[in-house]
Amino acid sequence: MSSLTELPQIRYEDPLVRIDWQAIDRECWWLPPRLLSLAGVPQFERLDERTRQRLSHLEYVHLLEAGLWLESQFMARLARLAHGCADVDRSARFLHELREEAGHSLMFVELLERSGFGVCTRRGLGMRVVDLLGGLLSSRSALFWAMVVIGEELPDQLNRRLRRGVEEATLSTVVYRIAAIHTRDEAMHCAFAREQCQESAARCPAWQRALLAPALSFAIDLYARYVYFPSVATYARAGLAPTLQWRSLALANPDRRAQVAHMLRPTLEFLKRSGWRVSSRYCPAR
Ligand SMILES: [Fe+2]
Ligand SMILES: [Fe+2]
Repeated sequence: MSSLTELPQIRYEDPLVRIDWQAIDRECWWLPPRLLSLAGVPQFERLDERTRQRLSHLEYVHLLEAGLWLESQFMARLARLAHGCADVDRSARFLHELREEAGHSLMFVELLERSGFGVCTRRGLGMRVVDLLGGLLSSRSALFWAMVVIGEELPDQLNRRLRRGVEEATLSTVVYRIAAIHTRDEAMHCAFAREQCQESAARCPAWQRALLAPALSFAIDLYARYVYFPSVATYARAGLAPTLQWRSLALANPDRRAQVAHMLRPTLEFLKRSGWRVSSRYCPAR
């Protein structure tokens, strides 16, 4: 668990100067082949390596775009939390996290711009609704901190798997470095979010948690689908057609569903231990 008293020892280094941007390479994998949404699907595995690598670039781009969206939500909230906090240590904790999230977003933008994929600022209806509803939640509420845990941990699980996949294929050194910097910082963010989640859930009456649990389960499925199952636009940009068919194959892909269940399980179990009776269609009970 992170502690506010540990903060003064934290050294901050601008991630933009810690990455050799000249080393961006598109002749390699950006996600390990086994981590692709279509991994194991026979029609996909029959495609040539260049096409499959291209999908790895676009699925990573999707992960960055999801990261940019989630981090923009966190940053807006962290700025307000820091500003409205009378406790100086706590306020510093929020500002430190805000600075780290800004560094992550800057890394994502840098890679997207330099690699030629560009930054997509379009927001789907679902994301705009989540933005709106999220904005209504109080920062002291148990539901808010449970949502923060989900938003922090789901992309982080994918990044951790990416790093472990380095032995499986020739991964882009820049992508690997971004994932390394990001997972290091996120370990602390996730621990802090879990701490706040447990404390706020303990303050929340059981009947209220029971009433809100279906909304939280719905949010988990929404986030999981968004983060782990790229939209048709990703397949279109990767040159895979017909896009709807490829997306359907990904959604039904048993390998992917098993991976998603594995990535979701630690977060679901933590929320259950914190008093939330949540479930997910992507993570059947064992
Ligand atoms: Fe981040
Ligand atoms: Fe974070």
